[in-house]
Amino acid sequence: MASTTYEPYEGAKLERLERDAAAATARYPDPRSALLPLLHLVQSEDGYVSPDGIAFCARTLALSTAEVSAVATFYTQYKRHPNGEYTVGVCTNTLCAVMGGDAIYDELSEHLGVGHDETTEDGKVTLERVECNAACDYAPVMMVNWEFFDNQTPDSAKQVVDRLRAGEQVAPTRGASSVCSFKAMSRVLAGFHDGRADEGVGAGEPTLVGRRLAREQGWEAPSQSSAGAADGGPSAAGQDAPVAPEAGGEQSSVDTPSAPPSGGTSDTTTGRDASKET
Ligand code: FES
Repeated sequence: MASTTYEPYEGAKLERLERDAAAATARYPDPRSALLPLLHLVQSEDGYVSPDGIAFCARTLALSTAEVSAVATFYTQYKRHPNGEYTVGVCTNTLCAVMGGDAIYDELSEHLGVGHDETTEDGKVTLERVECNAACDYAPVMMVNWEFFDNQTPDSAKQVVDRLRAGEQVAPTRGASSVCSFKAMSRVLAGFHDGRADEGVGAGEPTLVGRRLAREQGWEAPSQSSAGAADGGPSAAGQDAPVAPEAGGEQSSVDTPSAPPSGGTSDTTTGRDASKET
């Protein structure tokens, strides 16, 4: 049961939010599972997860405001104060950092006059340090509202933010042909597509070169049995069956499950059609 009787929104805004929240909630067998998209939804209206947004999510999903706040404060994509029109995230995780990410962040911070999670006075840019964006083959990487800007330098990054602040259209180096606003991006993350998901190139040449090389050379991943033999481990024939380590013994680990968790392992097929990946 919701713990609030507070009516957070009114008028057309309330109608719009209730309609969209109903659509998001209908995707799940249990309504409370829609909390993450609903938090993005209120961000798409208010530009952050506002107190009104917290109350709206709680009322809609029959949760307490404390439960909603606990989730909203856990994930960094949910903003607890008004965000700029563009979130500029510089990857300063290990590979990007050594490839220049730290220098990009430092120069941008000085250029914009803001630090991590701070917004420029004109409300245009919120600067962030971000963790790995799974684009290490394009390091150092900068994200603008989660669109990729690959192989950046301090100068190219400064040019991007200057153009954004001047109101110019800026094109990412991969993916969509332009950068949308933080509110528009939040609506997409709430599950309301803007039709741009298939724009542009997703996997560029650096991502595909290893796969292409393996195909040309006829390389394949080793089967489990041959991998075990190569490691000096037991093979299928002529070897003793492996003996389970004694609990607490030299080879045991209380942290290691004896069987992979149900629901998939790294060997589980993903459902992707590899023949369509070039
Ligand atoms: S370390 Fe920056 S994208 Fe992976």
